[in-house]
Amino acid sequence: MVKLPPLKILFIIKCGLLSFVHSQHLQISTRFMSGNVIFTWTPSNHSSHFILITRDTTRDKIWTRVTDTQYTVRDVLLYDNITINVRTPGSATDNRMAYNVFKIKIKVGDTVNLSWTAPFFPVAGLYIVYHTYRENRTVFRIESSGVSYGGYNQSSKYTYLTRPCNSTNIMFEIRDITLDDAGYYNGGSNDEAAWSGGGVVLIVHNKPSKPKITGDLNVEVNNATSLTCSSQSTSVPDYYSKLLTLSHTWLVNETKMGREIRDTLRLKVTKDFKYNKYSCTATEDVMESDRSDPVQINPLYGPDRPKITPEPVLNVNGKLTVREGETIGPFVCIADCNPPCNITWRVQGSDGFSDACSEMGTLLQQAVQRDIQLFQCIADRGDKTLKQSIQLDVQCKYFIGI
Ligand SMILES: *[C@@H]1O[C@H](CO)[C@@H](O)[C@H](O)[C@H]1NC(C)=O
Ligand SMILES: *[C@@H]1O[C@H](CO)[C@@H](O)[C@H](O)[C@H]1NC(C)=O
Ligand SMILES: *[C@@H]1O[C@H](CO)[C@@H](O)[C@H](O)[C@H]1NC(C)=O
Ligand SMILES: *[C@@H]1O[C@H](CO)[C@@H](O)[C@H](O)[C@H]1NC(C)=O
Ligand SMILES: *[C@@H]1O[C@H](CO)[C@@H](O)[C@H](O)[C@H]1NC(C)=O
Ligand SMILES: *[C@@H]1O[C@H](CO)[C@@H](O)[C@H](O)[C@H]1NC(C)=O
Ligand SMILES: *[C@@H]1O[C@H](CO)[C@@H](O)[C@H](O)[C@H]1NC(C)=O
Ligand SMILES: *[C@@H]1O[C@H](CO)[C@@H](O)[C@H](O)[C@H]1NC(C)=O
Ligand SMILES: *[C@@H]1O[C@H](CO)[C@@H](O)[C@H](O)[C@H]1NC(C)=O
Repeated sequence: MVKLPPLKILFIIKCGLLSFVHSQHLQISTRFMSGNVIFTWTPSNHSSHFILITRDTTRDKIWTRVTDTQYTVRDVLLYDNITINVRTPGSATDNRMAYNVFKIKIKVGDTVNLSWTAPFFPVAGLYIVYHTYRENRTVFRIESSGVSYGGYNQSSKYTYLTRPCNSTNIMFEIRDITLDDAGYYNGGSNDEAAWSGGGVVLIVHNKPSKPKITGDLNVEVNNATSLTCSSQSTSVPDYYSKLLTLSHTWLVNETKMGREIRDTLRLKVTKDFKYNKYSCTATEDVMESDRSDPVQINPLYGPDRPKITPEPVLNVNGKLTVREGETIGPFVCIADCNPPCNITWRVQGSDGFSDACSEMGTLLQQAVQRDIQLFQCIADRGDKTLKQSIQLDVQCKYFIGI
């Protein structure tokens, strides 16, 4: 049995492969579609190809095997140029194609000049400029007889600026830009030709929608809450605006809060937050949204130990000395709570607690019976209750009958 070292086997196989493979030159074409670029190459005798994409200066780390004769690079508006390199299996021959992503950003109401270089000007003398976003339409036609804007020799919206008309440097002006003007512009002798490579994407910037603030506004004091500022880009085309992240500004009353730019604001709530008004804006590039409607946090707190007024004058035992049959009160009981506490009064006699005669948190004036041990004010905020008591030292009257 002959044993060959593995390295040698590899070498032989590789040489064998190389000797059969011809370096193939692939024709690659490009097509811009809704924010993506589709690279298509001429079919070869191979069922699969290896591709490597470079976005600006960032090159894919690994080759991707594709079984189709096309490949879509998504969200190309994030870049200035996209390059594809296609290799047939086993070949080291590069087939490169670059796509330059021409984009212009402007605002509603502006006037803009769009320009690109056509690969050639059609000999037949007809060059059509198209615009596509949600639908395809002809912007104008350059004919040997002149420029035709939908049958007219001039337009209030567009002006073809290139002289001579048949130059490959295509340039035209668009006035009074609206959101409807956004999209992809390109030209050719027919629409099929127009969608292959080149052209310009016109991005129309608009201020983001007025934000809405959401979050838990009823917050226990010392707890944290998160407010979220939600707004959407209204720039077009949407295949551009979906790539954006908005930055946010938070305001308390009329004052900007620090450098907070995230869409959520985290706050540790204190009692005096109830006077603060929070609002936010969203910004895309330099376009700032209208300010959101303000929101106010409702800090939940209390009760503290209830306070009784007038303050009872207590004896050394901490009790209010009172003679049987004498009246006490009225006593007002208050407690600092949000939402306001329910204040009730109870009285403890020899047979336990019962409701005392009170009205709106005030213990009404009443005669003291001998078995009364204390009056108690209860401040109740649902799950939290605090009490304050007045202990009585009732001096009994003894009638010495004859
Ligand atoms: C591809 O196949 C065709 C016929 O099937 C052949 O004529 C041609 O030479 C092949 N090309 C390469 C590059 O192998
Ligand atoms: C495209 O990107 C490459 C880098 O990947 C750069 O060298 C080249 O100049 C760019 N081309 C254009 C037209 O911007
Ligand atoms: C467009 O180009 C024309 C001719 O070069 C120039 O007069 C005009 O000011 C340009 N418009 C804009 C908006 O740049
Ligand atoms: C625009 O025209 C191209 C080429 O004919 C076609 O592929 C595409 O689907 C059309 N787009 C719309 C929105 O009609
Ligand atoms: C446009 O056509 C009208 C006649 O339809 C003509 O009077 C006018 O001079 C033409 N304008 C230009 C700029 O060619
Ligand atoms: C443009 O038209 C002129 C005159 O008709 C002609 O001489 C010239 O070659 C044309 N240029 C192109 C790029 O077709
Ligand atoms: C406040 O925080 C405490 C502890 O984190 C939690 O148990 C409680 O549910 C919170 N209360 C409210 C109203 O969010
Ligand atoms: C916001 O305004 C209210 C009412 O004018 C004031 O009580 C509160 O202290 C202010 N908050 C801040 C953080 O300035
Ligand atoms: C206060 O009393 C009213 C009437 O009895 C009741 O509806 C309410 O829920 C009470 N509030 C609290 C915080 O206990």
